[in-house]
Amino acid sequence: MSGLRAVITGTGSYAPSRIMTNDDFAAYLETNDTWIRERTGIRERRIAAEGEATSDLAVEAANKALESAGLAPSDIDGILLATATPDILFPSTACLVQARLGATRAFAFDLNAVCSGFVYAMTVAKSLVETGAAARLLVIGSEVMSRSLDWSDRGTAILFGDGAGAVVVEASTVVSRGLGSFRLGADGRHWEMIHTPGGGSRRTEEPATIRMKGGETFKMAVRQLQESVLEVLKLEGISPADISLLVPHQANIRIIDALAARLGLAPERIMVNIDRYGNTSAASIPVALDEAVRGGRVQEGDRILLTAFGAGVTWGSGVLTWEAHRQKRSRM
Ligand code: UT7
Repeated sequence: MSGLRAVITGTGSYAPSRIMTNDDFAAYLETNDTWIRERTGIRERRIAAEGEATSDLAVEAANKALESAGLAPSDIDGILLATATPDILFPSTACLVQARLGATRAFAFDLNAVCSGFVYAMTVAKSLVETGAAARLLVIGSEVMSRSLDWSDRGTAILFGDGAGAVVVEASTVVSRGLGSFRLGADGRHWEMIHTPGGGSRRTEEPATIRMKGGETFKMAVRQLQESVLEVLKLEGISPADISLLVPHQANIRIIDALAARLGLAPERIMVNIDRYGNTSAASIPVALDEAVRGGRVQEGDRILLTAFGAGVTWGSGVLTWEAHRQKRSRM
């Protein structure tokens, strides 16, 4: 061990200003507000403006995270951007963000684990920081899901939204807590469960819009999230009772409720904002974490549990202990 510990020193988030309500869907699709609210927990979602892309959202969230960490873009060693909806196929959206921020010293790359992307990126960030490869990282989850939707498919169109969240992860030699155990998983045999048929090199004639087997995904998500959480709690040597706040991927309120019930977590220990954003894929956890921090729901010493499941299929969970890091930089 290097003696370095990865800690979150700033958070930020951003969502496009345009709100799309359930009634907006009911106006042209065979659906209604009651069905969507009861089956998913979603009331509204944000939709990117014409010409607004994943990097635009990412830059806004990253600037807020930098500000809350008290850092300048030039302080950053690397940018990890989790996204399944890049601006263009290549170069990476992270490089576009690096240029826009003026993070001239930073390496930059995208990471695609779809809805699990932010937990994957945090795991990589922890490794980079704790091995001494980088001291200050921006970890971003940003998605414009609205450009990957089949707007005539009521089973998927109503679920997703656009947004971005970011955190600054720094190396500390004095903080003993920060990012704890993280564990990832994948099972590519189920790649068809949620996928976009076109948009890549395989089937260029197919549309690049989301296809999902909703019911199967739902059942697997509940089972796999529970397994993943129990695995990471065991690694950390703690039980669900030690968790102050669960910040889960926001895919469906019934998935979150089922997980919370299995872990025995009361509602006040679960961060939920799916009602306002829908499923923003890799952005959902960092947006929820930023809202929890800014909303005063996170206190010094709190243990926070992150967990996600998504296309791939992929999953991952991580435990971190919150510290009021910014004031401690002088000792880091
Ligand atoms: O980010 C990670 C990946 N995504 C997820 O984790 C999402 C997981 N899946 C889900 O959230 C849910 O499966 C859905 C919200 C997609 C669907 O809910 P469900 O309770 O599993 O419904 P269902 O697919 O079993 O469909 C029940 C009925 C069907 O009608 P029939 O066949 O019973 O006549 C659907 O056609 O509900 C119908 N339905 C709708 N009705 C009104 C499906 N979507 C809608 C809709 N409005 N928007």
